[in-house]
Amino acid sequence: MRPLIAGNWKMNTLRADGSALVAGLVEQRSRKDPGCDILVCPPFISLGLIEDIISGSPILLGAQDCHKEEFGAYTGGISAAMLSDAGCGFVILGHSERRAQNYETDLLVSQKVSAAHANDLVSIVCVGETLIDRDAGSTLSVVEEQLLGSVPKNANAKNTIIAYEPVWAIGTGKTPTTMQITEVHDHLRVLLENHFAEGGGFRILYGGSMNSSNAGEILSVKNVNGGLVGGASLTVKDFWAICTSF
Ligand code: 13P
Repeated sequence: MRPLIAGNWKMNTLRADGSALVAGLVEQRSRKDPGCDILVCPPFISLGLIEDIISGSPILLGAQDCHKEEFGAYTGGISAAMLSDAGCGFVILGHSERRAQNYETDLLVSQKVSAAHANDLVSIVCVGETLIDRDAGSTLSVVEEQLLGSVPKNANAKNTIIAYEPVWAIGTGKTPTTMQITEVHDHLRVLLENHFAEGGGFRILYGGSMNSSNAGEILSVKNVNGGLVGGASLTVKDFWAICTSF
């Protein structure tokens, strides 16, 4: 399966920064196919701008969240229909920052995933344990509960991607060992095979302090089918280095 490297820009970039960043990626990609799909997920307000710059290039566009409803009296909400209409093909859902800061539950995440699928968006569903979970030995049970609770039963390998992001590795410069990553990704693969059609075909991304120095090793782990990159997706140099590190 062709790997995916996704950049989650989070709440970063003004118009000029985002434009320069993605123009740099378009330029790199026009010279070389690194053998993976490349996705950028800018803030909502930059989607139109970024869509114009990547148009005609193989760089893919996604958002970082969506509402569970299509339209209505939800002040500040952005729906999956709007994302699709804006040119997005992907949406990150259930990121640990949204689970923690916006009190998103597995049920709400699964409703958002269904809304995304109804609007032809591929969902990137995030799961991951806290340090407390890991120290308690509950990593596998925590990610299992999140996966089964956040991904609707009818999801398939074409419309859903899983991202394993240990909360303690996000933005900290700490990464799990390759053995720890292997253990979780293998467990997620078995769960996908047991509970979903084409479970063997789902891409499972790793995310959390991925950078140009550790990407090669992490991306070589079996059942790691790409990366979800935060901080290192904000410069062309770092992000392109990750894209080319397979
Ligand atoms: P960092 O790469 O900054 O640790 O963030 C990872 C992440 O949360 C991507 O969704």
